[in-house]
Amino acid sequence: MKYLLTFLLFLISISPSSAGDPEKGKKLFYGEISFSNGGLQCMACHRVDGSGGTLGPDLTKVFTRYGGADGLKAVLQGSTAFPTMTPVYRDANLTEEEISHLTAFFEKAAQEGRETGRFPVGYFFFAFGGFLGLVFISQVVWGGRLKSVRRKLVESSRY
Ligand code: HEC
Repeated sequence: MKYLLTFLLFLISISPSSAGDPEKGKKLFYGEISFSNGGLQCMACHRVDGSGGTLGPDLTKVFTRYGGADGLKAVLQGSTAFPTMTPVYRDANLTEEEISHLTAFFEKAAQEGRETGRFPVGYFFFAFGGFLGLVFISQVVWGGRLKSVRRKLVESSRY
């Protein structure tokens, strides 16, 4: 009997800390499955592993940040604690089950995902490249004109 109990405790200890399904959590996060109380999908404001919105913080490592499943679940249950999320979820509370799925998704993301900044470096180079392109085009289009104006000025100053 004692062994059986020990074995059961062992099973409990190795079972995943959150019983949710990470795939379902992912779908909830990205809005492929709707929240039963009609809440907005999280990706409207948050990103995980590089995809999603930039209004809220990156949630890739949020599982670690709140010290695991229990901490994170507590935070999600009280999502009204975040001023920006309060009005959005006040009448659309997440269910226990949805919170479990989301937590499982965040747990997986924390292990595999990569956090991204609010303004990815790539965009900066993209914008900078566009700027250089404009400078180049303006040189081609307007460059000759400026030179010809200058030439006229130089010429007229000789007399
Ligand atoms: C309307 C935009 C919006 C939506 C939708 C939204 N959030 Fe948030 N969330 C925020 C903002 C902004 C913050 C930062 C705190 C603040 O300003 O309220 C935040 C903070 C958080 C935090 C704390 C992050 C940290 O690093 O401390 C968690 C966890 C979180 N949100 C989870 C979720 C989940 C899960 C969903 C989907 C059910 C969701 N959020 C949907 C805007 C949003």
